[in-house]
Amino acid sequence: MPSFPPFYDRGSKQLYQVGSIPLIDGIPRFVESGSYASLFGDQWKRYKKTQLDSFSGSPISENRLNRCLGDLKDHLNDKLVLEAGCGAGRFTEILLKKGATLVSADLSSAVEVNAENFPVSEKHQVIQADINDMPYADETFDVVICMGVIQHTPDPEQTIRNLYALVKKGGRLVIDHYTFNRSRLFRLHYFYRMYYRKQPASVTIPATRRIVGKYLPLHKRFAHNKLMSVLLNRISPVTSYYSAFPQLNDRQQEEWALLDTHDGLTDWYKWLRNKKQIRSVLEELGAVDIWCEYGGNGVEANAKKPM
Ligand SMILES: C[S@@+](CC[C@H](N)C(=O)[O-])C[C@H]1O[C@@H](n2cnc3c(N)ncnc32)[C@H](O)[C@@H]1O
Repeated sequence: MPSFPPFYDRGSKQLYQVGSIPLIDGIPRFVESGSYASLFGDQWKRYKKTQLDSFSGSPISENRLNRCLGDLKDHLNDKLVLEAGCGAGRFTEILLKKGATLVSADLSSAVEVNAENFPVSEKHQVIQADINDMPYADETFDVVICMGVIQHTPDPEQTIRNLYALVKKGGRLVIDHYTFNRSRLFRLHYFYRMYYRKQPASVTIPATRRIVGKYLPLHKRFAHNKLMSVLLNRISPVTSYYSAFPQLNDRQQEEWALLDTHDGLTDWYKWLRNKKQIRSVLEELGAVDIWCEYGGNGVEANAKKPM
């Protein structure tokens, strides 16, 4: 079984001294709280288990991750894996189940929820750190996974470069990214977001509840009416899963809508990239065996760092 790598200060190019890293609730903290991602932390504290497969009873996260992992999906046992931007742990759960020796990292206080859902152990370490300044030397991890995150960072291309640097020679980078599609155009959503992403969680969480209460019944009603769904999405800022995941019951639909509507209205950065753009960053980095397709939340990719 691989051991956890030592913490490395990329600035001074030296290992951190033992005892020099603040430990809060047993979690090493390499960043201060209060970043652009802090509303994500509040969100995960409010909706701790909603999207865990073990809680929803449906393999929604596992299916999405397996598609991105490709052949790797059955070969993570005892691999040293970094999950960058782990949130509450919908993918942490699957990676641990697959036997990975896993470092879960997030910029926000979501790390506290992640460690509560999946306690630290000889196979699981949790740290609060920035993807763009990870406390590890280059080429440390067999696999680096970053799902649902890169579009929320200040500079997606730079984030991909920084993640790739952490992959060992012969290892793999697995990512996804929001993309352009017609459903994102001409939405009132963007006006709501301009306001809500600047508000504290004490405003955003109750506001999302009101918005979801108003619009979710309409999303349910028109889930199978394509034209009405398109029109409704122009007005409603709600993220509804009635048509994507009909297996979720009404209570789950409401919780998923509350969580992802909050996510969509409060993210500080929301970049879009197409398949060609993601592929070309990976190619510029010299990655090989690149798989890059539309699917899931936008573009999904998996690439190998040559030996
Ligand atoms: C939409 S959530 C996705 C979380 C998880 N991967 C999932 O799919 O449930 C985005 C996460 O990325 C984290 N994040 C954003 N920028 C980050 C950065 N620069 N470094 C580390 N984490 C970051 C946020 O705090 C948040 O938890």
